[in-house]
Amino acid sequence: MASDPTEPLPDARAAWNRGAAAYDRFIESGADWFRLHVHGPGLLAACGRVEGLQALDLGCGQGYFSRALAMRGAHVVGIDISDALIARARQIEAGQPCGIDYRRLDAADAAAALEPARFDLVAACMSLQDIDDIPATLSAARRLLRGNGRLVFSVPHPCTDMPVREWLRDAQGCKLALKLDRYFDTGPAICDWNMPRLGDRWQTGFRRHTLSEWVALLRTAGFALLDLLEPRATAAQVEANPQLEPCSRMPYFLVVVAGPVTGS
Ligand SMILES: C[S@@+](CC[C@H](N)C(=O)[O-])C[C@H]1O[C@@H](n2cnc3c(N)ncnc32)[C@H](O)[C@@H]1O
Repeated sequence: MASDPTEPLPDARAAWNRGAAAYDRFIESGADWFRLHVHGPGLLAACGRVEGLQALDLGCGQGYFSRALAMRGAHVVGIDISDALIARARQIEAGQPCGIDYRRLDAADAAAALEPARFDLVAACMSLQDIDDIPATLSAARRLLRGNGRLVFSVPHPCTDMPVREWLRDAQGCKLALKLDRYFDTGPAICDWNMPRLGDRWQTGFRRHTLSEWVALLRTAGFALLDLLEPRATAAQVEANPQLEPCSRMPYFLVVVAGPVTGS
């Protein structure tokens, strides 16, 4: 059954404060190999040349993608609702200055807190689905972007991140096929961060959307879809890192590139 789309998500600030330390270790230890090798580079490539651009990173967490942009010459503001993740982002910035301005802010309120049309790029690395008010956040992104700016974000791929999702395995444990169902059961859901390699367990809320719902959200906020990308692991990457194999055969991540519709 689809959940009630108007139902609010659990408190994101509390949930992400609770998971912040483990999430930071997950990234910094290299255990988040899909980010390091697949969706992170995929999102960065979709941003194109960023040198000299004014960039806003929505739901920046501990600053992984803000740093990636800043290291390539962008002037970055990173915002996140979690005090603990912003504190960690600032701590990394203090040790390794990249000129990033981190602020604890609900992304839905970003338009009131930042100058209109200030940014050339608004990015969101695996965060938009976790933000409770996606329409308000996209409207804020629209107001904050210059007319020729770009919104570029990654989300779990709607065609493989479904309520029913299970790898069917052979007797040796090798993955045979991904069983998927309930694509149209969108709305609020809970992500249970329970993988053993996290070394901790916590839950966060997120919203599932079909592909057409994502496009409708963009259109309503005054964006036109410019590109859709499906980053995946190459054969050479799988050979070097066999744990990447599942996302060489099924799309785990979706990268969306959108531009403001003139006059909207
Ligand atoms: C899956 S994490 C991704 C973090 C970061 N972009 C990264 O790539 O590691 C989702 C992030 O969204 C943030 N978040 C959730 N709701 C938010 C909101 N309303 N405003 C700003 N950030 C929010 C969380 O605190 C968390 O840092």
